[in-house]
Amino acid sequence: MNDMLSKIISTARKEGLFGVLREAIRFKIYLPARSIWNIALDRYHKIDTEEIVSLNSLGLPEDAGERCESTPIGEFLQIMRRFTIGPNDVFLDIGSGKGRTVLLAGRYAFKRIIGVDISMELNAVAEKNVRTLRGKLACKKYEFVTSNALDYKIPVDVTYIYLFNPFSYKVLNSVLCNIRESIALNTRDVTLIYYNPKYSLEIEKEHKLVKIMSVEFNHWSLYKSRCFVYKFA
Ligand SMILES: C[S@@+](CC[C@H](N)C(=O)[O-])C[C@H]1O[C@@H](n2cnc3c(N)ncnc32)[C@H](O)[C@@H]1O
Repeated sequence: MNDMLSKIISTARKEGLFGVLREAIRFKIYLPARSIWNIALDRYHKIDTEEIVSLNSLGLPEDAGERCESTPIGEFLQIMRRFTIGPNDVFLDIGSGKGRTVLLAGRYAFKRIIGVDISMELNAVAEKNVRTLRGKLACKKYEFVTSNALDYKIPVDVTYIYLFNPFSYKVLNSVLCNIRESIALNTRDVTLIYYNPKYSLEIEKEHKLVKIMSVEFNHWSLYKSRCFVYKFA
């Protein structure tokens, strides 16, 4: 309650009463309505991708990374439409959660799709989701790995890597070094899709990634979300 009150006061100070009203519509109407719609879609398809899960509730330390929250469906599809996927392309989601992006990427004929998550429980949900919809998907090969991203060795055939702001910069930094190692072992074009790119400045400066695309999603002027796409120079 105190948290909410201080949030309201800080928004009112920064953006006035209109800002408070906009945030109220975003959090009390827009996001709950979108979530209800997604739960209905999940039920229709007999899958489970929408519910948010904290790492704590999975018996994992909160500081390992971000909670499980799935990428909005429409946004992911709008991003994927910008690429031309070939038969040798391999998609990897690091911090794949309940596998929503794995399922949506499965609409494309990737050679294989890999989901890596720190939680065994989330991987089990993701695997079940894929089993349920497999017959309808274009990609026929899926792999789920339970691992901390810090310890995961990037396969040398991966060409698309997806991140929905899954962990701290410390972990991201190490993941980017692992990607470089994988590229050094097998020189190839790797596309990094970074949704909600919290550490974009750091990765551009410290890892010399080249931004090739910036996509902004405007949610009825309530808020904006973003996705940056990078190449490894
Ligand atoms: C924001 S969710 C993204 C889920 C999915 N990629 C999507 O976009 O729908 C972040 C996920 O990263 C996972 N995660 C957090 N820290 C991690 C780590 N250190 N190693 C691997 N996975 C991690 C969480 O369990 C969670 O499922």
